[in-house]
Amino acid sequence: MSIETIGSAKGPNDEKFWSTVREEFGIRSHPIYLNTGSLGLLPVQIADAVARYYRLYTAHGYEAQSSTTEQQSEVRRQLATFIGADEDEIAFTRNTTEAVTAVIDGIKLNPDDEVLTTTHEYPAVMQRWRRREGRFGIKIRTVNIPGPPDSPEQIVDLFRQAILERTKVIFFSHITRGPGLLYPAKALCQLAREHGLISAIDGAQVVGIHPLDLHDIGCDFYANSLHKWALAPAGCGVLYVRRDVQRQFWPRAGGSPPWDECVQGFELVEAVGTYAAPLRLAIGDALNLIRQIGFENIVARARMLSDYLKAELIKRPYVRMATSLSPYLSGAGLTTFAHQSCTGESVREGINRKQRFVTSDGWDGVADNTRVSTHFYNMKEEIDSFLSALDNLL
Ligand SMILES: Cc1ncc(COP(=O)(O)O)c(C=O)c1O
Repeated sequence: MSIETIGSAKGPNDEKFWSTVREEFGIRSHPIYLNTGSLGLLPVQIADAVARYYRLYTAHGYEAQSSTTEQQSEVRRQLATFIGADEDEIAFTRNTTEAVTAVIDGIKLNPDDEVLTTTHEYPAVMQRWRRREGRFGIKIRTVNIPGPPDSPEQIVDLFRQAILERTKVIFFSHITRGPGLLYPAKALCQLAREHGLISAIDGAQVVGIHPLDLHDIGCDFYANSLHKWALAPAGCGVLYVRRDVQRQFWPRAGGSPPWDECVQGFELVEAVGTYAAPLRLAIGDALNLIRQIGFENIVARARMLSDYLKAELIKRPYVRMATSLSPYLSGAGLTTFAHQSCTGESVREGINRKQRFVTSDGWDGVADNTRVSTHFYNMKEEIDSFLSALDNLL
């Protein structure tokens, strides 16, 4: 049976449906892949699509790029709809890091203006903020968010209490990289608006696993990767810039004809010279595949798997959870914990190398946790194998 003919899922536990879907990924029994938070598995049909698009270049070179312009625009429209934006508010990027870097470089700030962020941010992104601080004298201050917090309201309150006169931007991850905490993005953007602040969000762990409507969230900037949860090939990301803030945005990277120094604005982010059109085109195929499987099915299946993993983990007295058990405070795909008697490094050494799993670290700003990512293509038996491998460590 193929993905086109399987019909619809009879729920997140419909193993027949999900094992057919899984065949699209060419998954072998080992290693057991539990690291979509770093990079998602690429469906075979998307890999084939990329190869097909590159084949256009073999005889046609630049023509291949220019002849697919309309198709690329169609992908842009599809992607904008998928994330709740307008097509002229999004730019293709290579990943979240590139998109966030454009934001960090491009927001107008004076020396001593402050960016308020959290202790849970992706280290490479913090490094970029710190560089801007060192070079231009802005101030970066972090709000200490407990891991896990008690409620979404607690996160908003901690931000509210931290805002000062000099605060100009709030920046946070919608779902954090380490503990996979789900931040109340809409409420935080509302708070930003009440104080006249710019809101900028790192959404690397969101598209493809968590419903996203950027207009509803009401943020100014949102950066995303499509190669983690959204089935796109490595090297695909997207930056959203709300239409009303585009004219006050000065990204340094980018620039293409017309070579007019006065040209300002958001379109410059994407104008990076020659780019990989086949990767952009393949985003369209990935979105089609998501539609075929059913996005609601994907979200429900991913939530079921991580709920199962969490329920099993908390039975183990040696586990301290860093991810919240509440669906209002956790993304569906990331489950992060510390082991009472082993360092995170030795857990991963024991699990990954000796027992052939792929997991990652889940640093939450304080503790060396272990992060297990589960997407819809994982099976309950894989989680069971992981749990017995964990028990075997003792
Ligand atoms: C919250 C967060 N931001 C940014 C990134 C970087 O993503 P990319 O390598 O796709 O740019 C990650 C990756 O793990 C992440 O979890």
